Amino acid sequence: MCGIVGYIGTRAASSILIEGLKTLEYRGYDSAGVATISEGKLQRTRAKGKLKNLQIKLEGLEDPAKLGIGHTRWATHGKPEEHNAHPHTDTKERLAVVQNGIIENYRELRAELKAKGHEFRSDTDTEVIPHLIAEYLEHPEGTVLAEQSTLLEAVRQAMVRLKGAFAIAVISIDFPDELIAVRQQAPLAIGFGQGEFFCASDTPAIMPYTQAVLTLDNGEIARLTPMGVEVYDFEGHRQRKKPQTLNWNPIMVEKQGFKHFMLKEIYEQPGVVRTCLEAYLNTEWDVDSDRSPIRLGLPDVLLDDLQHIQILACGTSWHAALVGKYLLEQVSGIPTFVQYASEFRYAPAPLMPNTLTIGVTQSGETADTLAALEMEQTRRMATGEDQYAARMLGITNRADSSLGRLVPHLVETKAGIEIGVAATKTFVAQLMAFYFLSLELAHRRQAISNERIAELIDGLRQLPAQLEQVLESQERYVEELSHDFSQTQDFIFLGRGINYPIALEGALKLKEISYIHAEGYPAGEMKHGPIALLDEKVPVVAIAIKGPVYEKVLSNAQEAKARDARLIGVVPMNDAEAEETFDALLPVPDVDELLSPILTVVPLQLLSYHIAERRGLDVDQPRNLAKSVTVE
Ligand code: G6P
Repeated sequence: MCGIVGYIGTRAASSILIEGLKTLEYRGYDSAGVATISEGKLQRTRAKGKLKNLQIKLEGLEDPAKLGIGHTRWATHGKPEEHNAHPHTDTKERLAVVQNGIIENYRELRAELKAKGHEFRSDTDTEVIPHLIAEYLEHPEGTVLAEQSTLLEAVRQAMVRLKGAFAIAVISIDFPDELIAVRQQAPLAIGFGQGEFFCASDTPAIMPYTQAVLTLDNGEIARLTPMGVEVYDFEGHRQRKKPQTLNWNPIMVEKQGFKHFMLKEIYEQPGVVRTCLEAYLNTEWDVDSDRSPIRLGLPDVLLDDLQHIQILACGTSWHAALVGKYLLEQVSGIPTFVQYASEFRYAPAPLMPNTLTIGVTQSGETADTLAALEMEQTRRMATGEDQYAARMLGITNRADSSLGRLVPHLVETKAGIEIGVAATKTFVAQLMAFYFLSLELAHRRQAISNERIAELIDGLRQLPAQLEQVLESQERYVEELSHDFSQTQDFIFLGRGINYPIALEGALKLKEISYIHAEGYPAGEMKHGPIALLDEKVPVVAIAIKGPVYEKVLSNAQEAKARDARLIGVVPMNDAEAEETFDALLPVPDVDELLSPILTVVPLQLLSYHIAERRGLDVDQPRNLAKSVTVE
């Protein structure tokens, strides 16, 4: 994943790079580094671990350089050690490169460059890039197209040789007034200031300085000098592009008294649901009206005459998609298929006619999701047949992301920026998007009566207050309960129907931040395997909400109890049967089962948060993870 940042201008680069990296640390935090150039010298500082280690190393170092690049790493090739930290240099240490992505053909290139005398000092794929550029600087090949800059031309020639998905930034002591930035399937934005220019993996790194931003397209190279920015394609042709003004201000997100961002974001969920309701419910609608109860602003060509829906996503977004499937099938009556984007890319289902493809991605940058959507768009367009036309929709929290540019229609999840690596409020906002979409489609197709739609909308309106109630009533209890599990090694989460994906999400949250092994299972499947794992050391969390499967889940829980498992139940408030069954209760208000996931996920988020906290772990930046996964 990684975050890259670059600066050329009139101010000291080093502090701008560090401030930029702070906003990009969500992309990886295994190591960090910066390289700057001034007075013919390349100064490079790198540190293993989080950005603060790099900051400590840089303290007291006077660095007047006005040109530099920086990097925060999520290790792909090579352990998170200092010698693998970016920036990487060529053998003579005359140029430095940072990269976000993967160079797939690095083995061949490394062998080729080694044979030519280049000395490698890291285990990374990235290191081939500075060596390759150095090689082309010394021995340009073929026709030199971008004649105005030798560095640009050498980078261009090197790019043509690289396979993979990446974004890079390059500086060289031989070209002290240039910064070259390249985008090839990994995000990169260029910022235009007054006599100063920036590049970064994400706009928050740029926004404190300028709101004029140009997002590069794949296969583009930008040359930043103190005079301005030129953009070229990989064939060296100049592209005429203008920056756009981003219409949001960078908000310095603070913890506001919460110990961690994750806890703050869990507490923001009632507000997020409120915002979504305000944005997407049509307040003028009533049961007698013909108009839609929902205001998603999506065109008829996208939503009419649908025979199927396919949803592509990864991680927590995939869990939201599973809840979406339940709603789209049970509420809107449309057969829906959910696939991991990473699987779909290489084994797509045969084309189905009149299909809406939905990509769900909080960041809008997950490489697999983007690639799967792009592939689907291409193969549908290739048929040239109307019934297979690409109907594409994105659900994202970042309209300004690569997803926003890839698909023609978006539903914005309006959760606000999420800092904790483990998704919480953005998940709940994704669920809201699926409620709106399924109600919109149900209304269009008259799949359920207007009275039932009104009932569900009324239920949705109650959710913010009910979420507040859950948070208020459970925070202390869950914190106490978590003491019992700080040494636990395995957990099982059970749910059925619409709460099965919530069991998966509960297990994922626990794995992500507490490093406890956890499995989510459809409750009815427990007897087909996982039951063998149960004994007094393996707690079972079951989500048992009133509805057609309530009694069934209680029976499944009893089966676990009979194997000595400690039983924790996410159950309706004041329910005698549940009180009898479970050892510990995490009660939620008694709501329509269809709406319950918004509530049932919250105690599970709190449980994983407090267990991780109890174990003294870094809740907001768990080991090995990154918030935005821009590699395959
Ligand atoms: C990473 C994050 C997860 C997230 C997943 C998908 O693995 O750590 O929290 O669910 O990516 O991210 P997306 O931005 O596509 O929703």
